[in-house]
Amino acid sequence: MHHIELLLTLLALMFTRTLETCTSRFNITAVRGEPFYLKYCPSASEHKNEATAIKWYKSNESHGRIELNSRNSPRITLHDYILEFWPAELEDSGSYFFQMGNDTREWKLNVIARRKYSCFAEKQLISKIVEVQKSLHINCEHTYYQKLSNRTSLYKNCEKIENNKNPALQKNAEFNDQGYYTCVFFIHHNGKLFNVTKTFNVTVVGDRSKIIPVLLGPKLNHVKVELGKDVELNCSALANEKDAVYWNVWEENGKEPNVHEEDITRIRTLEGKLYASRILRIENINEKNLLFSYNCSVASEGGTDTIHFVLLKKEDMADISGYVFTRGMIIAVLISVGVVCLVIIGVIYRVDLALFYRHCMGKDETLTDGKTYDAFVSYLRECGPENGEEYTFAVKILPEVLEKHFGYKLCIFERDVVPGGAVVDEIHSLIEKSRRLIIVLSKSYMSNEVRYELESGLHEALVERKIKIILIEFTPVSDFTFFPQSLKLLKSHRVLKWNADKPPSYNSRFWKNLLYLMPAKMVKPCRAESEDLTVLSKF
Ligand SMILES: *[C@@H]1O[C@H](CO)[C@@H](O)[C@H](O)[C@H]1NC(C)=O
Ligand SMILES: *[C@@H]1O[C@H](CO)[C@@H](O)[C@H](O)[C@H]1NC(C)=O
Ligand SMILES: *[C@@H]1O[C@H](CO)[C@@H](O)[C@H](O)[C@H]1NC(C)=O
Ligand SMILES: *[C@@H]1O[C@H](CO)[C@@H](O)[C@H](O)[C@H]1NC(C)=O
Ligand SMILES: *[C@@H]1O[C@H](CO)[C@@H](O)[C@H](O)[C@H]1NC(C)=O
Ligand SMILES: *[C@@H]1O[C@H](CO)[C@@H](O)[C@H](O)[C@H]1NC(C)=O
Ligand SMILES: *[C@@H]1O[C@H](CO)[C@@H](O)[C@H](O)[C@H]1NC(C)=O
Ligand SMILES: *[C@@H]1O[C@H](CO)[C@@H](O)[C@H](O)[C@H]1NC(C)=O
Repeated sequence: MHHIELLLTLLALMFTRTLETCTSRFNITAVRGEPFYLKYCPSASEHKNEATAIKWYKSNESHGRIELNSRNSPRITLHDYILEFWPAELEDSGSYFFQMGNDTREWKLNVIARRKYSCFAEKQLISKIVEVQKSLHINCEHTYYQKLSNRTSLYKNCEKIENNKNPALQKNAEFNDQGYYTCVFFIHHNGKLFNVTKTFNVTVVGDRSKIIPVLLGPKLNHVKVELGKDVELNCSALANEKDAVYWNVWEENGKEPNVHEEDITRIRTLEGKLYASRILRIENINEKNLLFSYNCSVASEGGTDTIHFVLLKKEDMADISGYVFTRGMIIAVLISVGVVCLVIIGVIYRVDLALFYRHCMGKDETLTDGKTYDAFVSYLRECGPENGEEYTFAVKILPEVLEKHFGYKLCIFERDVVPGGAVVDEIHSLIEKSRRLIIVLSKSYMSNEVRYELESGLHEALVERKIKIILIEFTPVSDFTFFPQSLKLLKSHRVLKWNADKPPSYNSRFWKNLLYLMPAKMVKPCRAESEDLTVLSKF
């Protein structure tokens, strides 16, 4: 059994090998300048009889049938079944006959020339169709000449891409792989160099498997347009070769005379994807065009996909920029006005803000300066009919408000100075112990008695800068005939005017200003601030 199998395999091998290289076709094409051969295909039962003579003949129109031998044509060699041309030339075209005993075989040979500058003959191509992304394999093999050749080159579109013993190309096909691949086998024969070519016409085709087509982009598209202008709606799909892409615009379906559907365009990418797109052109857009949903569909056996386009009127560009500009200006002006208002409010409510700040921060200037009194009150001490008001103010109202309500400690001559003793020295030391000098200014203030207090205080304030002066005016300063020049230089905010006709409440500006001029001190008022002064109600 085994022997028979082996024999059969061997026979089969021999048979295929012979068949591989033998010339079975009747019409044969050869390329001028290239080595070429014809080989008789013996039938399976036939085996060569040494005695049987083998003869080769050629015939063409002008000449009859003539026997071939190497002597009458030097380019031809004969080995039994094989007739070789080194190389084939145009005049070799014609009919060839092989004869062995009664057996005859005929071929018709047509020798063609390559086009000038071309490395292959266009009629001698092996066509190869490869699907994109599928394997592209080009192997330079020649059943007959390969064993004779010691160098092979691979050319693509007649440009060399590889040069070695067995050049090959193996990759996943892309569309730019399409082209003519020529294998050139270089053969030495009788001291001459010949070449044999084998050319593949490689065509890369698209993916033949079907996809479900999809339209690109969102399902609903809002397109901003200007009336009177044109717009092009681009409907683009990833589709199959035969898929239809169309806009659903028909007469009964909202088609206007200014709406035009253009032809479909198909683009294949190098990876083999096919994009089909179709433009809908709307010219001279009018109000009617804004009312429609323009629908585009792609349809295939696998399914349908649709997307919608709606036109929206675009605001005039100039208007928009004008609007933006105006708004910007308004905002800028508002901000400036706001800033100015804040500054003005800050100036007007400077005192309130300062008091609020003192309150919030718990500021206290009185803790470390070693002074006993917050203010020394200087006033005209004789209580006459023309200055009764000022006297009451200094002796009653001031302590009532500043001491009882705001927690300050005042030094009032009548109350705090022990009668007798050196009055002048004592006043001097009391002023030194005070943080502020409150001068209650009335018409007859400039008497001898208070002149000293004033001068001492002014000295402290102006020369030694130990005390600050607060002037409370009952009579305008300008009414005085004698008045120290330096007092006139006092900053206006340090001068407070008392209006006896309208006694102010705790919250009034007068007291706020006075508090502001007084040193910052952390004390809790013992009464509610909104309450009116009981003392004041007497006036
Ligand atoms: C060979 O080619 C000729 C034309 O060139 C044609 O008429 C003939 O049928 C062909 N023969 C075969 C066997 O293909
Ligand atoms: C092959 O030989 C021909 C002459 O027969 C020559 O014109 C051609 O350039 C050769 N091709 C290459 C690739 O060398
Ligand atoms: C016919 O064959 C002869 C001998 O091979 C050759 O010289 C002649 O050119 C050929 N004529 C044609 C037309 O092929
Ligand atoms: C070949 O032909 C001769 C006569 O021409 C004949 O006698 C012979 O038997 C034939 N041989 C074969 C194998 O057909
Ligand atoms: C190719 O082989 C021939 C003989 O068959 C030899 O003369 C020649 O030098 C070889 N060329 C190369 C490049 O090996
Ligand atoms: C190569 O193949 C393509 C596709 O099959 C064909 O269109 C083209 O004509 C072929 N080239 C030549 C030179 O025959
Ligand atoms: C339409 O869109 C496709 C895909 O984005 C693009 O390839 C094509 O060039 C576009 N057509 C036009 C006319 O803009
Ligand atoms: C487009 O599709 C929408 C929703 O399916 C439909 O209401 C509308 O009538 C369609 N428009 C056209 C012009 O067919």
